[in-house]
Amino acid sequence: KALSQDELKKMVGYKAVDDYVQSGTVIGLGTGSTAAFAVERVGEKLKSGELKDIIAIPTSIRTQEQAESLNIPLATLDTHSDLDVAIDGADEVDPALNLVKGGGGALFREKIVEMCAKKFIVIVDESKLCDGLGPGFPVPVEIVPFCHEHTMRKIASLPALKGCDPVLRLGNVANNQPDGDEPAVTDNGNYIVDLKFTSPIKDPVAAGEQLKATVGVVDHGLFTGMTTACIVAGKEGIIVKD
Ligand code: A5P
Repeated sequence: KALSQDELKKMVGYKAVDDYVQSGTVIGLGTGSTAAFAVERVGEKLKSGELKDIIAIPTSIRTQEQAESLNIPLATLDTHSDLDVAIDGADEVDPALNLVKGGGGALFREKIVEMCAKKFIVIVDESKLCDGLGPGFPVPVEIVPFCHEHTMRKIASLPALKGCDPVLRLGNVANNQPDGDEPAVTDNGNYIVDLKFTSPIKDPVAAGEQLKATVGVVDHGLFTGMTTACIVAGKEGIIVKD
């Protein structure tokens, strides 16, 4: 019988912890339905004694709450900014292992934490693989609320993002489908704009640089040149891309 998508997510979440997390290390805990299985596994192995002396840095309030419920010792980058490994899901993965992240609204904390990790392990089911970033999943961008319509117009006019349609995320910040009337608010008190594309982004690095240079943008969901390895689960089993 074919495995469900949840079973695939669980396989990669558990494998990432089993293969990359050692006792006595500092780890980054990602956000989303796939990363939640990795968090679950860390909690399980701490409880059984298989892992000891872990300090974890969560990438969202949701993940922090899950980790607390599992008695995983937590810290922040203010005291622990050298991470041995970070494990997280992604919304899209291209052949160069560049990512779109932030479907769950946690892109800023994910990026600041994952940039501090010696190894960044991405865990996905095969539905997340794509040939080019953009058309398959809108690129989330965290912006400050002040004059957000102006910032959205500035984003739409960036040369490397030509043709994108910026849509303000409404309702639940963890859901990129509008499910409310008010702007969604991130863990950092900001808004999210989802950039819709009809064709692949030609140069994701340039797109990221131009977004980052836009006043009003806090950070964006293009994670380029960060992935150490990507663990993918699909019909044929698990493969590791690096
Ligand atoms: C959270 O902001 C995102 O970057 C998630 O990592 C991403 O949306 C993947 O989530 P799922 O594992 O739930 O698909």
